[in-house]
Amino acid sequence: MHKRNLLPALYPAALLVMAQMAAAQAKPMPAVQAAVLTIQADKSLAKVSPTLYGLMTEEINHSYDGGLYAELIRNRAMQHDPSAVPAWAALPEWPLVLIGSARATATLDAKDGPSAELTRSLKLTVQQADADNPAGVRNDGFWGIPLRPNTTYSGSLYAKANAGAAGPLTVRLVNNNTGATIATAQIPTLSPEWKQYGFTLKTGTIAASEDNHFELAAAHPGTYWLDMVSLFPPTYNNTPNGNRVDLMEKLAAMHPAFLRLPGGNYLEGNTIAQRFRWRQTLGPLVDRPTHMSPWGYRSSDGLGLLEYLKWCEDLHMQPVLAVYAGYSLRGEHVAPGKDLQPYVQSALDEIEYVTGSAQTRWGEERVKDGHPAPFPLTYIEVGNEDNFDKSNSYDVRFTQFYDAIRKQYPHLQIIATAPVKSRTPDVIDEHYYRTPEEFFNDASHYDQASRKGPKIFVGEWATMEGSPTPDMGAALSDAAWMTGLERNSDLVIMAAYAPLLVNVHPMAMQWTPNLIGYDALHNYGSPSYYAQVLFSNHLGTEVTGSALAGAGPRLYESVTRDEAKHILYVKIVNAASAPQSLKIHIAGVHGIDSHARLLELHGHSMEETNTLADPMRIAPVSSSIAGVASSFQRSIPPDSISVFEIHYH
Ligand code: AHR
Repeated sequence: MHKRNLLPALYPAALLVMAQMAAAQAKPMPAVQAAVLTIQADKSLAKVSPTLYGLMTEEINHSYDGGLYAELIRNRAMQHDPSAVPAWAALPEWPLVLIGSARATATLDAKDGPSAELTRSLKLTVQQADADNPAGVRNDGFWGIPLRPNTTYSGSLYAKANAGAAGPLTVRLVNNNTGATIATAQIPTLSPEWKQYGFTLKTGTIAASEDNHFELAAAHPGTYWLDMVSLFPPTYNNTPNGNRVDLMEKLAAMHPAFLRLPGGNYLEGNTIAQRFRWRQTLGPLVDRPTHMSPWGYRSSDGLGLLEYLKWCEDLHMQPVLAVYAGYSLRGEHVAPGKDLQPYVQSALDEIEYVTGSAQTRWGEERVKDGHPAPFPLTYIEVGNEDNFDKSNSYDVRFTQFYDAIRKQYPHLQIIATAPVKSRTPDVIDEHYYRTPEEFFNDASHYDQASRKGPKIFVGEWATMEGSPTPDMGAALSDAAWMTGLERNSDLVIMAAYAPLLVNVHPMAMQWTPNLIGYDALHNYGSPSYYAQVLFSNHLGTEVTGSALAGAGPRLYESVTRDEAKHILYVKIVNAASAPQSLKIHIAGVHGIDSHARLLELHGHSMEETNTLADPMRIAPVSSSIAGVASSFQRSIPPDSISVFEIHYH
């Protein structure tokens, strides 16, 4: 952990003074006059939405393949190209493994695969090889194969061999720098028919590194066909076909209430044919055809509908299920009426898959897939950003979905992605990608908004500053915006930062900024991530009466309380470059504990940020503060987000 984050817990006051002095030296700004925050602690303005903070996710920036989904092998199903086998062979960066006198070629066999869905495979033709001179292919995973010491990796592959080439096949994990074999296993004999083979690779006392590759090699001349070559590290909760542990832990720390799945453009696809087809993401991996994501690469669909739902289960989130609504990104749309009906039926079937009992057609399918219990479902979202549909067909398309869903599932809350007139949606999904300036100036966006219409889901939002992840300035503007969401969470019932995840390899990224960054082995949370963690972990149950007077520029507040725990959460964002003296008056309680917990996220400039190399440069610092009373004064540092946890009785 960075030194800066340890010290303040020990010497909060000293550090605060030092930070203020440093800030004052860097930018000589006079402290502005004391502002006054008056809290009427017994005044409940509204209930805080318990689902306010959640996650929005899609396959972008290698969020799943090469990200959360723990599979280590890239293009495992040989589906990435109709005439080549990228990631395995054919290009200079993907050389064959030819040891000593070995000779071989590797091509795509476009007509032979292990299932009706995977009809292509890698054909390895070995002209010359023996035990000391093997021939084969390698895979460098998603910019490296991350290996940790004393760890077991579970692998499997589909293979067949021509009559004279019965094996063995050797699988190896090899260090790129030393060429040392880190782990090895053998598949002794191969059948002439497609068959699945399993293997395990166990590392010893190595240093953790992602500078490794995977090899598959033969020790005999012959022809070998390979497909669905898979390798998993231990996963979160040891779930087969599961998720990366470190990233799941990062997400768990956010205590998200929901997961919007699948979100964004990924639901729609560039074309209707490339939409997210939930049925094709179910069942054995060998039966998933994979599909082209709108972000320029092919999705393995290993993280499919059921895996999304298990992800919800793992992190105690409720799914917000987005169904394809007949509009795709390049402008194609399905005509409302009879053409749209199969898509409406598909949405109803999807809901049945998620929620139906074993006695229903699709519930039975889910049971077969290994999940007998139905999943809870409250929200269903129809489409994504249908305001971009220039045919203006959304109103009619939405109506068709709305009527069918309402009829069969009257208890579901239906979310529209653009304003509609023909029906009243329960919730509207609004997206905000803005500059810091815009968020700072619009932090009270919902303060005066009408409460008579649908509830609001801010289904995607982010301050557009920092790359590949947001900087401190963005975190401040995010936090300023969140004070407004929180104060108005009777109306804004859910909100999600987007995009959530980014593999920071330059070849992996399509969008910036993103909340959490990683490579094959490491990860870090951006300052905005920590702003989310602070807000989400101190939500409260009631929006409490509060008023700020005499504040300098860019001071924002939100006050909530937890009725059961008798805690006031006072959130202050000082996005100005000067400290702000703040008098806090708390009325409407019998007494207040003289010590409170203060959590502070603090930067030295707007541009300061976290990176893979310096992951905790900006992270919340917790301290206990004394002198808390019904009236007390604090200096709020510049460029800071503070959460006071004040116990009352
Ligand atoms: O979050 C990135 C993209 O922004 C989403 O895919 C889309 O919904 C929005 O335009």
